[in-house]
Amino acid sequence: MIARLPLLPAGECDEIVAVLDKLNWADGLAPGQLYREKVKGNKEIAFQMSPQTAPADELIKQINNAIMSSSHIRTRMFPKSMVNPRFNLYSDGGFYGPHADSAFLGDNRRQVRTDYSMTLFLTEPDSYEGGELRLTYPSGEEMRLKEPKGTLLFYPSGVMHEVLPVTSGRRIAFVGWVESHIQSQQERDLLTEITTLCDDMMADESTALGEFHTRALNVKHNLYRMWWKGQ
Ligand SMILES: [Fe+2]
Repeated sequence: MIARLPLLPAGECDEIVAVLDKLNWADGLAPGQLYREKVKGNKEIAFQMSPQTAPADELIKQINNAIMSSSHIRTRMFPKSMVNPRFNLYSDGGFYGPHADSAFLGDNRRQVRTDYSMTLFLTEPDSYEGGELRLTYPSGEEMRLKEPKGTLLFYPSGVMHEVLPVTSGRRIAFVGWVESHIQSQQERDLLTEITTLCDDMMADESTALGEFHTRALNVKHNLYRMWWKGQ
């Protein structure tokens, strides 16, 4: 499932970009020069990257809080933890070729399974050429996504994806990876459906807290008991 939702107002995105404009971007983190040349040609400011980029750390914490407290995200993705948050910049032909995200990210102390990848767009789509996020499914079906600033995209990390070259302007975004409390996409979808059903029954006076609603709640809670992993 892909989630697309407005997370930040446009003005807040502009304020974030204004802070980032005062900082130094580094070459995107890559396992060697060959990967940088062939696959990953962007710039990044990562969480706790350097004392000079400390102002970005505060922004990352704020964005993280906004994502984790979003009811839309909580009821669909069941986020447990986020890893490797960072801002990235594509300009002057910058790109990120087709790739698979690593199954686990983090350091020796803490490894996080990547169930979802996130992109929060921070610059307007008409301010740059190219820069579409392209997802390619095993069936060959593809999606090209280029969203208004302030829009957050959640997409499954297991789908091959890329950022097409930005041939003019600047594409600035926030990215991160999320482990879900529920590993299986099928289970996540069922939990979302039963939770939505219970909420709808609660909102309807003719069904709220009646026998059918109560039985649906019982099923919902038992499914959570069965599938929920971690605190
Ligand atoms: Fe990726």
